[in-house]
Amino acid sequence: MHLLIAFILTLSLVSSSNQFSNLKTSVGQICPSTGYISIIDFDVSPWPPAPGTSSFITTTAQFNNTNSGVGPITYSTQLNDGSWTQEIQEINGMFSQYSIQKFIYIMEWPLEVGYYVTMVKLFGINIPSSTDACWTFPYSINQ
Ligand SMILES: *[C@@H]1O[C@H](CO)[C@@H](O)[C@H](O)[C@H]1NC(C)=O
Repeated sequence: MHLLIAFILTLSLVSSSNQFSNLKTSVGQICPSTGYISIIDFDVSPWPPAPGTSSFITTTAQFNNTNSGVGPITYSTQLNDGSWTQEIQEINGMFSQYSIQKFIYIMEWPLEVGYYVTMVKLFGINIPSSTDACWTFPYSINQ
């Protein structure tokens, strides 16, 4: 019983500290894809984005299908519902069935104040490639 309470206390401490430094899966959401690859965790650290700084974006994905791979991962960012800019991370790897992979990217946050949405897309390795997983999250850059 004491062990269980200690465990629960630890869990709540961990989640309350993460709330301020990390995004985890609690912010952002899945966006349309084939669903061939499953995003099982998504983390941005440090969080929230501050102008001109950078964060690690960690996408954890599970490959439950056979012959599954990732070509590029794109990081597309939209400012104030306007134009999009895109960054590309080349992966070009095959991953074994049921494996879990983490993809880490260092993202530099813009200087311009505004409301942003970043969309992360994992493309398959086949040609023509499809969007096999997608995650999107909003944030604002303040002065
Ligand atoms: C992938 O397969 C494993 C083993 O069958 C299962 O436990 C897991 O929930 C599946 N993951 C997803 C994201 O569907």
